[in-house]
Amino acid sequence: MTEHYQALFSPFELAGKKLKNRIVHASMTTRMGKHSALTEPMMQYYANRAAGGAAMIVSEPLSMARHQNSPFKVIVFDNRYQEDLKRWAEAVESHDCRFLGQIQDPGRGRHEAGRNPEALGASALPDDLSGTVPRALTAFEIESMIEEFSVSALRLKTCGFSGVEISAGHGHLFHQFLSPWSNIREDAYGGDVVGRSRFLSHMLAAIRSQCGHDFIVGLKLPGDDGVPGGINAEEAIKIANHLCSQHRIDYLTFAQGSHARSLEMHIPDDHEPRVTYLPLFNQIRAQVNPIIPLMILGRITDPAEADKLIAQNEAQLVGLGRALVTDPAWPLKARQGRAHNIRYCVSCNNCWFVGVTAHQSLSCDNNPRVALVDETDYWPRPAPIPKKVVIVGAGIAGMEAAWVAAARGHEVHLFSRSSHIGGKARLRSQLPGGESISSIYDYQMAASQRAGVVFHLQQEATAEDIIRLQPHEVILATGSTMVPPRWLPKEAQGLVQDLRSAILEVIQHPQPQSGSAVLYDMDQSEGTYAAAMALKRKFQRVVVVTPRNAIAEDTAMVTHQAIHRRFSRLGIEVMTLSEPCWTEEIENGRLEVVQVYTGFKQRIDDLAFFSYSTPRAPNQALWKALEAKGFSVHLIGDCLSTRTSMKATQEGHSVGHAL
Ligand SMILES: Cc1cc2nc3c(=O)[nH]c(=O)nc-3n(C[C@H](O)[C@H](O)[C@H](O)COP(=O)(O)O)c2cc1C
Repeated sequence: MTEHYQALFSPFELAGKKLKNRIVHASMTTRMGKHSALTEPMMQYYANRAAGGAAMIVSEPLSMARHQNSPFKVIVFDNRYQEDLKRWAEAVESHDCRFLGQIQDPGRGRHEAGRNPEALGASALPDDLSGTVPRALTAFEIESMIEEFSVSALRLKTCGFSGVEISAGHGHLFHQFLSPWSNIREDAYGGDVVGRSRFLSHMLAAIRSQCGHDFIVGLKLPGDDGVPGGINAEEAIKIANHLCSQHRIDYLTFAQGSHARSLEMHIPDDHEPRVTYLPLFNQIRAQVNPIIPLMILGRITDPAEADKLIAQNEAQLVGLGRALVTDPAWPLKARQGRAHNIRYCVSCNNCWFVGVTAHQSLSCDNNPRVALVDETDYWPRPAPIPKKVVIVGAGIAGMEAAWVAAARGHEVHLFSRSSHIGGKARLRSQLPGGESISSIYDYQMAASQRAGVVFHLQQEATAEDIIRLQPHEVILATGSTMVPPRWLPKEAQGLVQDLRSAILEVIQHPQPQSGSAVLYDMDQSEGTYAAAMALKRKFQRVVVVTPRNAIAEDTAMVTHQAIHRRFSRLGIEVMTLSEPCWTEEIENGRLEVVQVYTGFKQRIDDLAFFSYSTPRAPNQALWKALEAKGFSVHLIGDCLSTRTSMKATQEGHSVGHAL
């Protein structure tokens, strides 16, 4: 068989251990641990990625020291789960995949509301996001913690792990020690680069002395933490050079952002360039000992990109985080020349929202089977009895149901009144920062074609059309419609379009136009703000008016940080706790906006565009018509009630399976 992407699939060696290729699964919290123990889904998650062809996997953070006891992190600090740790290592290593445990500690960092009274840190300075003020560790506590970390590292080695990675970026404890922003200690663990690196330096020495030289020790350092007075590339180079001159570090990698307003930097979204941090990695690489293997990471999603990085010797290893959540068989498919079968990460960061902030198991918008036994290189098995299935709606819920049902051997007819597939996701893909979203429905289309779905595009199916086809099963994925805001009188509703309709015209006629665009936002989703950016390309002034306390409140912290940053860069204005006031003057281009609590009014005199983005009501007319004729149907996606794209794909997938 021809090997594709030969550079990416060339072998490598770390600490005398063989890596079959250059692909490393970067550490990601799965929140699949329970009661501080390994669970079957957690083990399966890792086994699937090993089976999918990664050469090395870095686990999520483990409980390596007693004070780290968290229900989600597997305990390593004593013997109680030794047998589980062995099974876990075996589940990964048996696929010729090296397994590393991650050593990390949040220190004062906290994503949730409220402060953490137990937090430990470098200095008693507040966390930039939660305001948590940690208790500064004493020198004795630091050394005891290091001892615990190194003994736990040895336990991992005994259980069959190939190494550890120390996560010293992301604004966590070790980063807090490294950065002058959070470390103002006056003892041996503060001060200059040498002092601030001492915690890490002693830890590296202790782990090496416990675990020997045939154990991989990787280090994730801050590259550019985005905090003025924190760690920029120059400081990162100094730290890396200092630590590398003292210790044998088997590979280096760099995380961006911090536990601060720059948190968004660690998982760049679709507004950022692909391989976002290549220039930064190049800058660091040029000044750090080239003998030390470098693992590049940050929005690498495509095998060709990854292969080029290795072929051009820009890095020796490629770290993939989100890309391997979306498709564990990414390496296998790439190597076999099946890159077109990869389900690609769309950089939406909903995995982070669910896993990190909502404390739910890691999930993905474009992978409804995360951690299931048959997740890797999945293709459905045939159904026992083939049926005729009619699906109405070609958004991502309907498309997912269609390909899965057809792949199971059913005769699937998919109706859509649009001439295109993708629904709302397609519209989102045409707005700024939406390019990758098309990967969701592109995959579904390719799978539908492979499975033989019969498409009836540009055909609005009525209840009679459906009944005439005599289907065994009917699935409705008819979506939802924005509810006109209450301040818009019924008789004026024809004068103002909802954002979905209005933005299409802007996309089609992007020529600059003078005047102000006003967008009323009760929706709070990322797509609404992408539309505001599209408006800013056309109109001189854009004002987002929301009755809520802030914009983007319902999005992940990393997402709303990015939205605020982009809005301020583009000069998009926001009026919070405000609502438009309907008057006839609107037709003359004059709009009054009223503050909801004070009644204070402001005027916009050059209104050129006016639209609203509001919560959506399900489109259920077809359901009701079918029910009236005694037909029972399956409802999925927004036509059941408004839901996230992640839930929509999951529902389509499960219904496709259940038939
Ligand atoms: C859901 C999620 C959880 C993460 N958890 C961790 C973590 O626990 N430790 C860590 O060092 N990095 C963590 N990261 C960061 C990743 O290791 C990686 O640096 C980042 O996702 C950029 O790589 P990518 O663009 O390939 O996703 C996490 C990322 C995501 C998306």
